[in-house]
Amino acid sequence: MEVIVQPTPAEAARIAAMLIARAIERKPALVLGLATGGTPLHLYDELVRMHREEGLDLSRVRTFNLDEYLGLPPDHPASYRRFMKEHFFDRTNIDPRRTFVPDGLTQDIPRHCREYEELIESVGGIDIQILGIGSDGHIGFNEPTSSLASRTRDKMLTAQTRRDNARFFASPDDVPNSCLTMGIGTILDSRQCLLLAFGSHKADAVAAAVEGPVTSMIPASALQFHADAKVLVDEPAATKLKLRAYYDYAYRHSPVLQ
Ligand code: PGA
Repeated sequence: MEVIVQPTPAEAARIAAMLIARAIERKPALVLGLATGGTPLHLYDELVRMHREEGLDLSRVRTFNLDEYLGLPPDHPASYRRFMKEHFFDRTNIDPRRTFVPDGLTQDIPRHCREYEELIESVGGIDIQILGIGSDGHIGFNEPTSSLASRTRDKMLTAQTRRDNARFFASPDDVPNSCLTMGIGTILDSRQCLLLAFGSHKADAVAAAVEGPVTSMIPASALQFHADAKVLVDEPAATKLKLRAYYDYAYRHSPVLQ
């Protein structure tokens, strides 16, 4: 994994946006895997700015979101379809017909999950997958002990995740207890992963994912098996990393990033 530490979330997000914009220039019909939550907001803001000020054209890009709450309609204020619409889709020239978010109201979960996987495969797979990390080490909603080979499926949320996400709901009791999520195997199939993590509350999870053993107890540690995973963090999220000096040296001398 390549770890890039930046002074602020905005600066880390600018690097991620630059990598995505370059990839879209090379391949206008790029397939992007998207994440929700507080973490990717700076990244979406930067991509929107690039679209408005620099002519970044997203019209042919396809997007697949990692996850969605089960039981929430797409227009629910806390649904991830609504989140994406407000923070990203409606602010760019992305074609809504090329955006995909798991359907939290599906009546046939196994079939919907199978079709989501097939759809990703039918467009040639995900080129760049954006990821956040939960304070419990989850990616997508793959909670600890998720199979490292898992595919898109329904998953029960941990109490910790429901507490962490309660801020997006009117009351903590409103947080659904289950979700649909791409699996860890689905995520590992993407060509590149960009994991973002900001704030001291992510420092333990980041250190365990990057420098700890690969274990389903820290689902993000599975990214150690990915051939092209970059981890972009701010200073507070980097405080528990042992090889910090090495990461900074590698970043300063990276021909791609400088
Ligand atoms: P956050 O969530 O961006 O809201 O911190 C990240 C995650 O749970 O993956």
